[in-house]
Amino acid sequence: VAQDIINNVKLKCCGIKVLYKNKQGITMCGIVGYIGFRDAYPILIQGLKRLEYRGYDSAGVALINNEGVMNVYKEKGKVSNLEALTSQRDISGQIGIAHTRWATHGEPSAINAHPHVSQSGRLALVHNGIIENYSNLKILLEKEGYTFKSSTDTEVLVQLIEYMQKKYDKSLENATIMALRMVVGAYAIAVIDKNCPDKIVVARKSSPLVIGIGADHKEFFIASDALPIVEYTKQMVYLNDNEVALLKIGKKIEINNLNYEDITPEVKEVNISLESLEKGGFEHFMLKEIYDQPRCMADCMRGRLLLNEKRIVLSTINMHRERLMKAERFIIVACGTSWHAGLIGKQLIEQWANIPVEVEYASEFRYRNPVISPDDVVIAISQSGETADTLAAFQLAKENKAMCFGIVNVVGSSIARASDTGIYIHVGPEIGVASTKAFTGQVTVLTLFALALGHERGTISKEEYESTIEELGNIPEKIKSVLAKDEEIKDIARSLTYAENALYMGRGFNYPVALEGALKLKEISYIHAEGYPAAEMKHGPIALIDENMPVVFVATHHQLYKKIISNIEEVKARNGRIIAVVTEGDEAVKEIAEATIEVPSTLASLAPLLSAIPLQLIAYHVAVEKGLNVDQPRNLAKSVTVE
Ligand code: G6P
Repeated sequence: VAQDIINNVKLKCCGIKVLYKNKQGITMCGIVGYIGFRDAYPILIQGLKRLEYRGYDSAGVALINNEGVMNVYKEKGKVSNLEALTSQRDISGQIGIAHTRWATHGEPSAINAHPHVSQSGRLALVHNGIIENYSNLKILLEKEGYTFKSSTDTEVLVQLIEYMQKKYDKSLENATIMALRMVVGAYAIAVIDKNCPDKIVVARKSSPLVIGIGADHKEFFIASDALPIVEYTKQMVYLNDNEVALLKIGKKIEINNLNYEDITPEVKEVNISLESLEKGGFEHFMLKEIYDQPRCMADCMRGRLLLNEKRIVLSTINMHRERLMKAERFIIVACGTSWHAGLIGKQLIEQWANIPVEVEYASEFRYRNPVISPDDVVIAISQSGETADTLAAFQLAKENKAMCFGIVNVVGSSIARASDTGIYIHVGPEIGVASTKAFTGQVTVLTLFALALGHERGTISKEEYESTIEELGNIPEKIKSVLAKDEEIKDIARSLTYAENALYMGRGFNYPVALEGALKLKEISYIHAEGYPAAEMKHGPIALIDENMPVVFVATHHQLYKKIISNIEEVKARNGRIIAVVTEGDEAVKEIAEATIEVPSTLASLAPLLSAIPLQLIAYHVAVEKGLNVDQPRNLAKSVTVE
């Protein structure tokens, strides 16, 4: 019957091509919902604040009060603007949904903000994703007399659900399934109906959605990730693609897929401490996360780096030894900072395990016809585990039967779940949009993996294996000693405040560090910065150098040290301003540079774990000095689920 209805509706599209093939295109926003016995508003607002890192163009909330009236408030800008709007208004109600938005369709405005309400005012819906065929659906609905207030794809979806509900006299959950069967695109949605204030319907495809279950099913929480839920319950269900869940007070969760088949919910116990979500006395999350790094590294290596026994234990190698040993090639796919970590991983794996590694921007990889063989291992590196391009690249690898190996921070995220195996970096929630501790966590995991693999394959000498293990154990303390130089770094950073451009140079293992340093500066201080392998300077960037161009060199005492000194001299000869990260006790660079920052001596292969820290701090202090929003820089989002 359902199929007949769908077909019927499809026919009614009068030749409009409702279904088409492109399944890409996802967006990033945060959604929160609550149903139960408490006041929903404070839970929703607090939840939005925890999700604000996902987007902060506008925010909104819909609540059904005890008289069955639905109040919807929406405001442009941050959640605090929404709070200002709702003061003195009716915010009562024990059921509600809320949203923080990063605009895709339609400019950031109160009208385009979610929740969107259906024509009759009965339904409200929040959505994270993109409905790709929304314009065709809109034409269909307009023919049926529907009118639209906003220019969003989401409003089309809520109208479509209402259309199904009315036309076919269906329950909210069945109408939602019927509507979603017509939708092409990506979504995590939550819908409420003021005529049925005892339920919320949620659904997911390609955008994350977590359900928290209160005691005896007397309350339910929903959110884009576990952060808004964790203070209320640890029992969570991660909805899978094409699933629709009915959350009804006093009843167990009912899940159906889009073919109306019953799905048994898989309840997981999630343990994240709320304390780890707070700023812990620091002015910004980014600074807290930079300072977290010694502890994060220790957490990341715990149980994996056995210092006394001088060995590394990784369950992924124990469980998948044969498959990993026969790998002919690794392909690393990632974006942004994670891609930089991948470049370091390539050098480590090639050096120790003697297996060729390619490092690809996930967004490029997924759209060409890459050669992937079943003997390849494709490593996706992602802090959030939700980056759309990385996930799609991974899916491509899966289709080609390669092994999918995830290096992810967020437990239970989409990439984590799509992995055949992998290693969590375990650095705890990273809230600052500019990634810091996740980068060092990723590099740490790649180091452990490359060492362990090299050892298994017999391609690393016992001496190098053991001495690297020993030195890895020293790195957290050495990071602490870099952090102790923060005041000095802050002074040096001041000299960059008014720069319009900056160059970052490094060689060998420090080349990706230079890229990462430049990215950090761009992201949060809005200064144009480029990273280069230092020897490439003479093939172009040198033309930019004059007395106004700061050049940050990562020139620690390793095999290419002498060569990089020549590069520094070349900048000096053109009056460039030189800031250099050097090894403790360095003399040669100090003589030439305007300022140097010393980091403790370590092995070349581990240098990035130390030299990245001053560059993170430089970017941080420049942004603070410029009075910018460090944790939520303009136009960026933490979890880029948009292609
Ligand atoms: C965004 C973030 C970056 C991050 C990149 C990849 O651009 O702002 O900090 O490096 O996405 O994110 P992922 O979660 O996949 O590591």
